[in-house]
Amino acid sequence: MKVIAFNASSRKDGNTATLINHVFDELKKEGIETELFQLAGKNLIDCQACMKCSENRDKKCSITNDEMNRYIEAMLSADGIILGSPVYFSTISSNMSSLIDRAGFVSRSNDDMLKRKVGVSVVAVRRAGALPTFHAMNNFFFISQMGGPGFF
Ligand SMILES: Cc1cc2nc3c(=O)[nH]c(=O)nc-3n(C[C@H](O)[C@H](O)[C@H](O)COP(=O)(O)O)c2cc1C
Repeated sequence: MKVIAFNASSRKDGNTATLINHVFDELKKEGIETELFQLAGKNLIDCQACMKCSENRDKKCSITNDEMNRYIEAMLSADGIILGSPVYFSTISSNMSSLIDRAGFVSRSNDDMLKRKVGVSVVAVRRAGALPTFHAMNNFFFISQMGGPGFF
Protein backbone atom coordinates (compact mmCIF):
# COMPACT_ATOMS: atom_id res chain seq x y z
CA MET A 1 0.00 0.00 0.00
CA LYS A 2 1.28 3.47 -0.86
CA VAL A 3 0.34 6.97 0.32
CA ILE A 4 1.67 10.06 -1.44
CA ALA A 5 1.58 13.65 -0.19
CA PHE A 6 1.82 17.04 -1.83
CA ASN A 7 3.37 19.92 0.10
CA ALA A 8 2.04 23.01 -1.66
CA SER A 9 3.98 25.50 0.44
CA SER A 10 6.38 27.87 -1.30
CA ARG A 11 8.83 26.86 1.47
CA LYS A 12 10.37 23.43 0.92
CA ASP A 13 10.73 21.49 4.18
CA GLY A 14 8.77 24.11 6.15
CA ASN A 15 5.88 23.70 8.60
CA THR A 16 3.58 21.95 6.12
CA ALA A 17 6.29 19.39 5.35
CA THR A 18 6.84 18.84 9.10
CA LEU A 19 3.13 18.13 9.60
CA ILE A 20 2.99 15.78 6.61
CA ASN A 21 6.01 13.92 7.95
CA HIS A 22 4.20 13.41 11.30
CA VAL A 23 1.42 11.66 9.35
CA PHE A 24 4.02 9.69 7.36
CA ASP A 25 5.64 8.51 10.64
CA GLU A 26 2.35 6.87 11.68
CA LEU A 27 1.83 5.33 8.23
CA LYS A 28 5.36 3.92 8.19
CA LYS A 29 4.67 2.20 11.52
CA GLU A 30 1.91 0.30 9.69
CA GLY A 31 4.29 -0.68 6.88
CA ILE A 32 2.75 1.74 4.39
CA GLU A 33 5.07 3.15 1.72
CA THR A 34 5.16 6.96 1.48
CA GLU A 35 6.38 9.56 -1.01
CA LEU A 36 6.43 13.35 -0.63
CA PHE A 37 6.16 15.74 -3.57
CA GLN A 38 7.25 19.27 -2.68
CA LEU A 39 5.73 21.88 -4.98
CA ALA A 40 7.99 24.78 -3.94
CA GLY A 41 9.47 26.37 -7.05
CA LYS A 42 7.41 24.21 -9.39
CA ASN A 43 5.26 27.15 -10.53
CA LEU A 44 2.27 25.07 -11.57
CA ILE A 45 0.12 27.20 -13.85
CA ASP A 46 -3.61 27.41 -13.36
CA CYS A 47 -6.20 25.38 -15.26
CA GLN A 48 -6.72 27.05 -18.66
CA ALA A 49 -10.26 25.66 -19.00
CA CYS A 50 -9.25 24.38 -22.46
CA MET A 51 -11.40 21.26 -21.90
CA LYS A 52 -8.85 19.14 -23.78
CA CYS A 53 -8.78 16.65 -20.90
CA SER A 54 -12.46 15.93 -21.41
CA GLU A 55 -11.98 15.65 -25.19
CA ASN A 56 -8.86 13.46 -25.06
CA ARG A 57 -9.82 11.38 -21.99
CA ASP A 58 -6.23 10.13 -21.79
CA LYS A 59 -5.78 10.71 -18.04
CA LYS A 60 -3.47 13.64 -18.78
CA CYS A 61 -3.50 17.42 -18.56
CA SER A 62 -2.86 19.04 -21.95
CA ILE A 63 -0.39 21.48 -20.36
CA THR A 64 2.92 19.65 -20.58
CA ASN A 65 5.55 22.23 -19.64
CA ASP A 66 5.35 21.59 -15.90
CA GLU A 67 5.25 18.51 -13.67
CA MET A 68 1.48 18.15 -13.34
CA ASN A 69 1.21 14.93 -15.35
CA ARG A 70 3.86 13.32 -13.12
CA TYR A 71 1.71 14.23 -10.11
CA ILE A 72 -1.45 12.91 -11.77
CA GLU A 73 0.28 9.60 -12.56
CA ALA A 74 1.46 9.38 -8.94
CA MET A 75 -2.11 9.99 -7.72
CA LEU A 76 -3.39 7.24 -10.00
CA SER A 77 -0.93 4.67 -8.72
CA ALA A 78 -1.32 5.59 -5.02
CA ASP A 79 -3.85 4.11 -2.59
CA GLY A 80 -4.03 7.30 -0.54
CA ILE A 81 -3.39 10.99 -1.21
CA ILE A 82 -2.47 13.67 1.34
CA LEU A 83 -2.93 17.29 0.30
CA GLY A 84 -0.92 19.73 2.43
CA SER A 85 -1.07 23.51 2.23
CA PRO A 86 -0.09 26.48 4.35
CA VAL A 87 -2.81 29.08 4.86
CA TYR A 88 -2.28 31.97 2.46
CA PHE A 89 -4.83 34.77 3.01
CA SER A 90 -7.28 32.33 4.58
CA THR A 91 -7.12 29.77 1.80
CA ILE A 92 -4.88 27.32 -0.07
CA SER A 93 -1.67 28.33 -1.84
CA SER A 94 -1.74 28.95 -5.59
CA ASN A 95 0.22 25.76 -6.34
CA MET A 96 -2.41 23.76 -4.41
CA SER A 97 -5.16 25.53 -6.31
CA SER A 98 -3.54 24.56 -9.65
CA LEU A 99 -3.03 20.97 -8.47
CA ILE A 100 -6.65 20.63 -7.39
CA ASP A 101 -8.17 22.26 -10.48
CA ARG A 102 -6.05 20.45 -13.05
CA ALA A 103 -5.79 16.98 -11.45
CA GLY A 104 -9.43 17.23 -10.41
CA PHE A 105 -10.66 18.07 -13.90
CA VAL A 106 -8.57 15.27 -15.45
CA SER A 107 -10.05 12.86 -12.92
CA ARG A 108 -13.62 14.04 -13.60
CA SER A 109 -12.99 13.73 -17.35
CA ASN A 110 -11.87 10.13 -17.01
CA ASP A 111 -14.79 8.52 -15.18
CA ASP A 112 -13.65 9.87 -11.81
CA MET A 113 -10.44 7.88 -12.02
CA LEU A 114 -9.48 8.72 -8.41
CA LYS A 115 -12.72 7.43 -6.91
CA ARG A 116 -12.53 5.17 -3.86
CA LYS A 117 -8.97 6.24 -3.01
CA VAL A 118 -8.46 7.66 0.48
CA GLY A 119 -7.73 11.36 0.96
CA VAL A 120 -6.59 13.46 3.91
CA SER A 121 -5.81 17.17 4.20
CA VAL A 122 -3.07 18.81 6.28
CA VAL A 123 -3.00 22.55 7.02
CA ALA A 124 -0.18 24.70 8.44
CA VAL A 125 -1.62 27.89 9.94
CA ARG A 126 -0.17 30.78 11.88
CA ARG A 127 -3.35 32.39 13.19
CA ALA A 128 -6.55 32.33 11.11
CA GLY A 129 -8.02 30.70 8.05
CA ALA A 130 -7.36 27.01 8.76
CA LEU A 131 -10.97 25.94 8.22
CA PRO A 132 -11.53 27.39 4.72
CA THR A 133 -8.13 25.98 3.71
CA PHE A 134 -9.04 22.52 5.07
CA HIS A 135 -12.43 22.75 3.38
CA ALA A 136 -10.95 23.68 -0.03
CA MET A 137 -8.74 20.59 -0.06
CA ASN A 138 -11.43 18.28 1.30
CA ASN A 139 -13.69 19.39 -1.56
CA PHE A 140 -11.17 17.89 -3.99
CA PHE A 141 -11.71 14.52 -2.29
CA PHE A 142 -15.50 14.82 -2.12
CA ILE A 143 -15.86 15.92 -5.76
CA SER A 144 -13.49 13.15 -6.86
CA GLN A 145 -15.64 10.57 -5.03
CA MET A 146 -12.83 9.70 -2.65
CA GLY A 147 -13.21 8.78 1.00
CA GLY A 148 -11.58 9.56 4.35
CA PRO A 149 -9.39 7.21 6.42
CA GLY A 150 -12.40 5.33 7.82
CA PHE A 151 -13.75 4.74 4.31
CA PHE A 152 -12.84 1.06 4.02
C1 LIG B 1 1.46 34.92 1.45
C2 LIG B 1 1.18 34.39 2.84
C3 LIG B 1 -0.07 34.51 3.36
C4 LIG B 1 -0.37 34.03 4.64
N1 LIG B 1 -1.63 34.15 5.12
C5 LIG B 1 -1.93 33.63 6.35
C6 LIG B 1 -3.27 33.72 6.86
O1 LIG B 1 -4.19 34.21 6.22
N2 LIG B 1 -3.49 33.21 8.09
C7 LIG B 1 -2.49 32.64 8.85
O2 LIG B 1 -2.78 32.18 9.95
N3 LIG B 1 -1.24 32.51 8.37
C8 LIG B 1 -0.93 33.00 7.15
N4 LIG B 1 0.35 32.87 6.67
C9 LIG B 1 1.36 32.15 7.48
C10 LIG B 1 1.55 30.70 7.06
O3 LIG B 1 0.31 30.05 6.80
C11 LIG B 1 2.22 29.93 8.20
O4 LIG B 1 3.44 30.58 8.56
C12 LIG B 1 2.52 28.51 7.81
O5 LIG B 1 2.93 27.80 8.97
C13 LIG B 1 3.63 28.41 6.79
O6 LIG B 1 3.85 27.04 6.44
P1 LIG B 1 5.16 26.62 5.60
O7 LIG B 1 6.33 26.70 6.53
O8 LIG B 1 4.90 25.21 5.16
O9 LIG B 1 5.27 27.55 4.46
C14 LIG B 1 0.67 33.38 5.41
C15 LIG B 1 1.95 33.26 4.86
C16 LIG B 1 2.20 33.75 3.59
C17 LIG B 1 3.60 33.59 3.00
